[in-house]
Amino acid sequence: MSLILDIAGLRVSLRRGGHLVRDVSLQVATGQVHGLVGESGAGKTMIAKAVLGILPDAVRVSTGSIGFKGTDLLSLSPRRFRALLGREIAMIPQDPLTGLNPSRRIVAQMTDTLRHHLGQSRGEARGNALRLLQEVQIRDPEKVLDRYPHELSGGMRQRVLIAMAFATEPSLIIADEPTTALDVTVQKQILRLIRQMQERHGTAVLFVTHDLGVVAKICHQVTVLHTGQVVEQGSIDHVMSNAAAPFTRALMAATPRYDQPADALHPVPEAVHQTLRDAARTFDGRNP
Ligand SMILES: Nc1ncnc2c1ncn2[C@@H]1O[C@H](COP(=O)(O)OP(=O)(O)O)[C@@H](O)[C@H]1O
Ligand SMILES: [Mg+2]
Repeated sequence: MSLILDIAGLRVSLRRGGHLVRDVSLQVATGQVHGLVGESGAGKTMIAKAVLGILPDAVRVSTGSIGFKGTDLLSLSPRRFRALLGREIAMIPQDPLTGLNPSRRIVAQMTDTLRHHLGQSRGEARGNALRLLQEVQIRDPEKVLDRYPHELSGGMRQRVLIAMAFATEPSLIIADEPTTALDVTVQKQILRLIRQMQERHGTAVLFVTHDLGVVAKICHQVTVLHTGQVVEQGSIDHVMSNAAAPFTRALMAATPRYDQPADALHPVPEAVHQTLRDAARTFDGRNP
């Protein structure tokens, strides 16, 4: 299995000083789903954005490398980087509405992607858009092509975005909390779909979530991030059965299980929250 994504010693820092992500290394191999899990504010999105080259202005990568199929993305010229994005590296966003242009029909947005990245003709692109909507199990794909995003449900919009992410047969897809904005039942369907699609296409996925239950459902490998640092890493079986880090155990205890009634959920105890807050403060304090 060859490596698609090879993040080594990544440090993401604020330009005015202080670090958001420290010395993170993780690898995603061909066809694998790698879960990046951690509490809100842990730095998951910063890692995803570092790979996609879309960090906020106040933030930069200060050390480390982001290898993509053997090339360090950080050393690429903006032009070469843009050529990879959307074609070799695609993303599925958290909020399907932000990923779509509200004023354009689905067909225009899908065919743009296909025409721009794959140089397809209008007719060819329309045919492929239709085929992609069928592949993500959208009923009445002809009708959906002519709709505007607001005319579709959240789950349907996410299916469209999944179709678009896979449209160019990328080697890597970054999915940042792709099911967080959805109802629980829809969430399960979308997770299953992402897993089916990535298996069928052999795509490597970096799957970002705060929910260890979601990770357990679809990931092969997992990295647990806590206040910007890796606290645990390994195969999903290994991490779920031998979680050594206290934080991972707390995260596991707080993970809702679909097979249990809601009253059997264990919320994160206040003591754990306090420990996390203290740890975060110490962590901030350590940084200049
Ligand atoms: N635009 C920004 N400028 C500066 N700091 C930011 C910005 N966005 C997020 N942060 C900070 O970066 C840290 C990590 O955030 P983020 O990666 O979004 O966490 P996660 O995705 O794990 O919830 C947080 O402390 C957050 O406050
Ligand atoms: Mg985030």
